[in-house]
Amino acid sequence: MLAQTPPMGWNSWNTFGHLINEQVIREIADAMVDLGLRDAGYEYVVIDDCWSLYERDENDRLVPDPEKFPSGMKALSDYVHSKGLKFGMYSCAGCMTCARRPGSFDHEYLDAQTFADWGVDFLKYDFCYVPKHVDGPSLYRRMSMALKATGREILFSACNWGSDEVEKWIRSTGAHMYRSTGDICDNPQSYIDISTSQIDKLAYSAPGCYNDIDMLICGMGGKGNVGAGGCTPVQYKSHFALWCLYQSPLMIGADIRNIDEETLALLKNKELLSILNDPEARTAAFIRGGDRRSFVKVLANNELLIALFNFTDQGDGMTFVDLTEVGVPSFSGYGLSGYEIFTGEKTGLIKDYLKVDVPAYDCKLYRMKLQKI
Ligand code: GLA
Repeated sequence: MLAQTPPMGWNSWNTFGHLINEQVIREIADAMVDLGLRDAGYEYVVIDDCWSLYERDENDRLVPDPEKFPSGMKALSDYVHSKGLKFGMYSCAGCMTCARRPGSFDHEYLDAQTFADWGVDFLKYDFCYVPKHVDGPSLYRRMSMALKATGREILFSACNWGSDEVEKWIRSTGAHMYRSTGDICDNPQSYIDISTSQIDKLAYSAPGCYNDIDMLICGMGGKGNVGAGGCTPVQYKSHFALWCLYQSPLMIGADIRNIDEETLALLKNKELLSILNDPEARTAAFIRGGDRRSFVKVLANNELLIALFNFTDQGDGMTFVDLTEVGVPSFSGYGLSGYEIFTGEKTGLIKDYLKVDVPAYDCKLYRMKLQKI
């Protein structure tokens, strides 16, 4: 079964936009392996929009742009597979893709077979230029069934940006993940706003179909297709921690051929990935706060994560977590003890309150266990 844990990989859009070609994709696949990203769990290499010609061929099939992909998609997918990775592509439920290439509307079964023939393992399916008389659920179900009809196991990644209360029906279509927000930009306000918009929708994300809060911007540094100022390393750290806490699919958006060591270590952080992939897959719960925000997430093995974020540029000011609110009131005879996962710093036994000073834009994540007082 696909998507038992949040899907992980790399997607071309954030950095490259329409400037994609087979050489870039091959080099990205090489880098995924050489940098240990594949072994950390990032398995899909996904080509986003702008891979095709503007017209279908005489048999109505989609045609890869021969200038960008002279060897064809099957050869590229063979290459990606030879690296122990999986190959992803992009289409759209409407008549055109968002960048105005041919969409799959009324061509779903033909296009799904084309993707299967090319060895595609993952399809991102956008929602631009959808005719007025059809509804989203039926179109996502149509492509989901078309993919199943090929007999090939293909992860289906829906992308309607949260329209029509997508979280309420998307699982029923057969999709394995679903974009719930508009496009991310490479600046702190963008990831903060995206995370805020999904606070009351976390419970819809679960094994088999995960809430995708968009591709990662970690390490982009303002360069690329969604560049808008960039973020500091601390902001990228908080962005990544939020995505793991929310169990979002993790699709790297940076040009990993030129990635810095700090970003690479962040993307491979074992503690964070173990939270993302926790076997019980329980959604995080928002505790309280505005710009200084706290969450709790029940983990397997009787562990508990307490996550604190400071979305302001002010370092001073304590964040308090009342242990009664996380389920461990003082009359219980229990407190919590554990450590902060980035620093390894031990908390000692905490009773009543966890009081933490979170620096500007930073976060602190505590992995805790019950302890008798
Ligand atoms: C939409 C999607 C993006 C990207 C572009 C491609 O905006 O939300 O993630 O796929 O289309 O045109």
